[in-house]
Amino acid sequence: MATEPLSIERSKSTLRIENDIETLAGSDYTQTSDAIQRYAYTPVYRNTLDYFTAALKELGFDVHEDCVGTLVARNRPAGEEVFGIGSHCDSNRNGGKYDGTLGVVTALEVCRLNCDLGLDLPLQVISFLEEEGSGFGQMLLGSRITAQRVTEEELKNRFRAIDDGRSFWQSALDAGYQPERWRESIHILDDLVGWIETHIEQARVLQDTHNRIGVVTGIAGYVHGDIWIEGRQDHAGATPMSFRQDPGPIAAEILLELERLARVEMGKGTVGTVGEIEFSPSLINVVPGRARISLDVRGTDEDSFRGVISQLEAFAETAATARGTTAKFIQRQTLPATPMDARIVDALESSAQTAGEPFMVMASGAAHDTMCVADHVPTGMLFVPCTDGISHSPDEDASPADAALAAEIILSAIRKLI
Ligand code: HGY
Ligand code: MN
Ligand code: MN
Repeated sequence: MATEPLSIERSKSTLRIENDIETLAGSDYTQTSDAIQRYAYTPVYRNTLDYFTAALKELGFDVHEDCVGTLVARNRPAGEEVFGIGSHCDSNRNGGKYDGTLGVVTALEVCRLNCDLGLDLPLQVISFLEEEGSGFGQMLLGSRITAQRVTEEELKNRFRAIDDGRSFWQSALDAGYQPERWRESIHILDDLVGWIETHIEQARVLQDTHNRIGVVTGIAGYVHGDIWIEGRQDHAGATPMSFRQDPGPIAAEILLELERLARVEMGKGTVGTVGEIEFSPSLINVVPGRARISLDVRGTDEDSFRGVISQLEAFAETAATARGTTAKFIQRQTLPATPMDARIVDALESSAQTAGEPFMVMASGAAHDTMCVADHVPTGMLFVPCTDGISHSPDEDASPADAALAAEIILSAIRKLI
């Protein structure tokens, strides 16, 4: 285990990171010009994987993609112990330049520094497929496949492409992958002795407390799902109010109840969001026959955030029945609150101390692929600030200099851990 402090030429790393980020914000790497938009099996996502593949091969890494498209690059033969670093390089559909991508770029910079400084640390970079769920509405899909937290039935039938309705399975086949081997994906974790992901904070705590680095101690768990309300489609003009079975007002009541329940629990760190509302047939002069609202409920206290979901389910059924309609909650997926490994947190903390820049220890409200890696490998995370906490937006902004600092801290921590 190396103990002498390591210091890097941060300005050089800053420039390399900035160049990667700006290149990957170019038109070859996003489907739209008004945001960063890239997700599994799109040409722009293929270009993004090719960019990292070329850069890592240049450093002497062996690079491959697993059976569904998660990128894996390592500088040791299979079977030899390596330390894992990475994140995801797909984006939210209304994404920014930094969410996910900054983590893979920082991992690439760690690999460059490993070469520049002649450290020859054993490293494996992973860029997980579909963290954002922009392709199939399923967050953390690639890392959940790796962690075997999905079923074959979901991959074959339930998980469908937002763009064209094809199953995940068929989409992966059409993109040239082998989804039938999805159970083998777990083996990309086999040789990992540890894992550290760098990510933007996606809130404003680091910025407002003037810290450059966040050492993450735990990641909030979450429940994703939808409440479907079945009413009766009617003419908006001819149908008297007392004759209606309109799911719209029920959706509004449920949305307000979620907000109330989450506020009751907010002292325990629980949050609740309705991000999607859908009426069908969604026409101005038709009382909708059906409504769907999405639920995103998260927290670090399992009883608290899961209690919100069960209370809301009961509320929705009662509210729907009172208006002669029905409401049903269908869960999309859930992951538990996930603590980071104490030994890795300590190594990151002491390395941040040595780096001499302001840092703090904190929890993550956002979900990350690290939650799935943590099932099998000791994990840690580093956050860097993002301006005003803006994320999942083209206005997302972060500092490559902070990512360069994170790269130095990760390199120092890995030297202590292996
Ligand atoms: O929503 C999340 O937690 C992550 O940014 N996909
Ligand atoms: Mn992310
Ligand atoms: Mn995200």
